[in-house]
Amino acid sequence: MKISPSMLACDFSQMGNEIKKISSLGADYIHMDIMDGNFVPNISFGPDVVKTLKKFSNVPFDVHLMIDRPDKYIKQFAEAGANIITFHLESNCNILETIKLIKNYKIKAGLSIKPNTPAKKIIPYLNDIDLTLVMTVEPGFGGQKFMENQLEKTKAIRKHSKNVLIEIDGGVNGETIKKIKKYPVDICVAGTYIFKAPDIKEAINLIKL
Ligand code: DX5
Ligand code: ZN
Repeated sequence: MKISPSMLACDFSQMGNEIKKISSLGADYIHMDIMDGNFVPNISFGPDVVKTLKKFSNVPFDVHLMIDRPDKYIKQFAEAGANIITFHLESNCNILETIKLIKNYKIKAGLSIKPNTPAKKIIPYLNDIDLTLVMTVEPGFGGQKFMENQLEKTKAIRKHSKNVLIEIDGGVNGETIKKIKKYPVDICVAGTYIFKAPDIKEAINLIKL
């Protein structure tokens, strides 16, 4: 299992140090939650912050856009140093055109689905993308309860594609990981569990094992 710690749960006054810390403790990716106060009720940070943080780590940046018009911002996030850009199937854009925009920058393209969106909606795009992000909470906030019933979606996705990376996001911790490991999940995003852990290294290792 690979881990992508979410910077949403870190100490925002210490972002540079926080990213250095998780990079040295075994993070496989670094998850950046981008929220616009429109697609989701919360606002986080934008491309300038991503660009600044890039100087502190060589670990690939996994950028999760929870914004209404992802197509308008692909250029900015790609130029800021994103290695994967994931946007939502439910957002207000042309899906295939937006995937193409991402791929023009020679970076990985991901597509995400919210809890109320069935897996069958993402199946037609599996050959066009590198990664699927299955939300296991309602997007918008860290620290929510894991929605176990979302895990079945990973099986449906794997059935239709052997190659696409499957990532899950929300409510991952030392308990929920036991169930997650029974499903075809390649990458777990975890915010609260990692950054609020008494021993971050131990928490990372427990997910990765
Ligand atoms: C939710 C975000 C998640 C969130 C995960 O909208 O996409 O990445 O930060 O946080 P935890 O691990 O605290 O559930
Ligand atoms: Zn996320």
